[in-house]
Amino acid sequence: MSSRPVHIAQISDLHIKAPGSLAYGRVDTAKALEHCVTVLNEFDPAPDFVVISGDLADTPTSEEYQHLERLLAPLKLPFASVPGNHDSRELMRTAYPSSSYASASGPLNQKIEVYGLDLMLLDSSVHGKPHGELEEGTLQWLDAMLAASRDRPALLFLHHPPFKTGIWHMDRQNLLNASELAPILRRHPRVQLVATGHVHRAALTLFAGVPTTICPAPNHAVDLDLAELREPSFKVEPPAFHLHSWFPGQGFGTIVTHQVPIGSFDGPHPFFGLDGKLL
Ligand SMILES: [Fe+2]
Repeated sequence: MSSRPVHIAQISDLHIKAPGSLAYGRVDTAKALEHCVTVLNEFDPAPDFVVISGDLADTPTSEEYQHLERLLAPLKLPFASVPGNHDSRELMRTAYPSSSYASASGPLNQKIEVYGLDLMLLDSSVHGKPHGELEEGTLQWLDAMLAASRDRPALLFLHHPPFKTGIWHMDRQNLLNASELAPILRRHPRVQLVATGHVHRAALTLFAGVPTTICPAPNHAVDLDLAELREPSFKVEPPAFHLHSWFPGQGFGTIVTHQVPIGSFDGPHPFFGLDGKLL
């Protein structure tokens, strides 16, 4: 286990299109990612790793992945990604051939060690469908990988949330076989966090006794329509990403998830003057 804090940034749902195209005719997702990369590069301390939790492309096409590669080229931090429902496994393999995928074909699962943390990147995409599902082979691989250690903290990353948010049109396309993931989490208490995306807005719950989050997006957010008033809609809300900070301590240490707004803001300003008194 690391003796120093470890910071894992998570960005999600980039929805990069071909150059010049706007998502839904309205959202400049490329510009949004540029702003996100700027904030990641300037963050001090530099995050130890970045996970992109799906929907890297939008339709998807190889042109979109090439555009994504150009947009991520200025990112100074190591990163890896899982596919979302807007991605293509084959095109992602082509775009990132040196990734440490667990198998030469099929789901793009990866285990990445970052300073004593095990990041388990799970492919929940289902070809041609908006919902998510973990294939039998992925569940078996995850169970085996988690059984390989008893004391290293593990963080799971996948695109589809294994819980309902109350947003009706997203809940019918979440992780449909969440009930098959739950017993694996209960078998392996070293899983300290399940981090997802797909909904473009921050949310937190407990799933199988494990803190489970949804990461906001750098672009548009799914409308928080809990009253089922509208057809599926989005809003351009303040963009953000998650920073999962792990601190050493007893047992598995502690994971704290910070929400980091993307943009430049007034401050920081000191609370206290030179005389030590509140300003
Ligand atoms: Fe998605």
